[in-house]
Amino acid sequence: MPSPAFTDTVLAWFAAHGRHTLPWQQNPTPYRVWVSEIMLQQTQVSTVIPYFQRFMARFPDVHSLAAAPLDEVLHLWTGLGYYARGRNLHRSAQILSTQWQGEFPRSVDALCELPGIGRSTAGAILALGCGVRAPILDGNVKRVLCRFHGIEGWPDLPAVQKRLWLLAEEATPAAGFAAYTQAMMDLGATVCMRSRPVCSQCPLAAGCQALASGRVAQLPSRKPARAVPKRAVCMLMCCTPAGEVLLEQRPPSGIWGGLWSFPEFADVATAQQFLATQWPGQSLQQQTWPVLKHTFSHFQLQITPLLVHVPDEPPGVMEAGRQRWYSAGPDAASPATSVGLAAPVVELLQRIATASAG
Ligand code: ADE
Repeated sequence: MPSPAFTDTVLAWFAAHGRHTLPWQQNPTPYRVWVSEIMLQQTQVSTVIPYFQRFMARFPDVHSLAAAPLDEVLHLWTGLGYYARGRNLHRSAQILSTQWQGEFPRSVDALCELPGIGRSTAGAILALGCGVRAPILDGNVKRVLCRFHGIEGWPDLPAVQKRLWLLAEEATPAAGFAAYTQAMMDLGATVCMRSRPVCSQCPLAAGCQALASGRVAQLPSRKPARAVPKRAVCMLMCCTPAGEVLLEQRPPSGIWGGLWSFPEFADVATAQQFLATQWPGQSLQQQTWPVLKHTFSHFQLQITPLLVHVPDEPPGVMEAGRQRWYSAGPDAASPATSVGLAAPVVELLQRIATASAG
């Protein structure tokens, strides 16, 4: 679908289905649009409405806001959250009041100099409040454009963002840009929602690439997960013929502090060196199990379990109180056991019990 058709379709939908009675759409001065856009940055329309109305009643213009004590501004912000927005609003009002005679500059770059105003908010203030054509690219618009054009990649990646700004710019009409701007926000908020969008009601459905290729749920692409560092260890599971396994208590601090776990080594070879010192000259039956992954918030532990059948006698060196032979029977990991066990240890104890029963 070429841009004019896209834009006309969105405008026609807006006339019939858009929101036309929001408080900031009445008497849309730059000041009122600015305050509403800042409040709407991280907060839903229904929450914002009463805050917006109280704010306008108390601070009807830039000068009254600039002259107010910050405490009073933050008081009116109480409950909206993200209080940096309130502080930035107050600071920007003072700049506008002293350096711009209370007027709003009519360019994206000048507006972006003000605290709390980014490129998309600047575009919205210009298009909705100043009669100046400027594109916006807020979360709603990104979602509509990514789906319609089938754009892959996290929208905040510089290359993706650049492409989206070009598309946003291209679709913003020379006349009717205010209606178009509000229309895109409304379409994103009421039809093309992130989860469970109502494609059957969407005026753009016929040309939507995400819909055509079954990627509506996948687009826009999620932020790539931060790669978590990986750490590999070998857990040594020494089992006696009587069905006992050797556990040791972990140091009080660090992961699993104070819990009981298997003796841990950097790798299988190091574990085998330990075996050679504890049971010298004996060839012990061994089995390496598949790697078990355990993910913490900041890293992933890749555990190679090494099962070793040891003769009945305990190792020569038993660190007093910190090691014990533990019954690996079917109830080994039940809540009734008196010691705290790390989660993968519970899992492995159960597998040992299953393996020896089978
Ligand atoms: N979210 C951001 N700006 C908005 C606006 N002008 N109307 C509705 N929702 C919005």
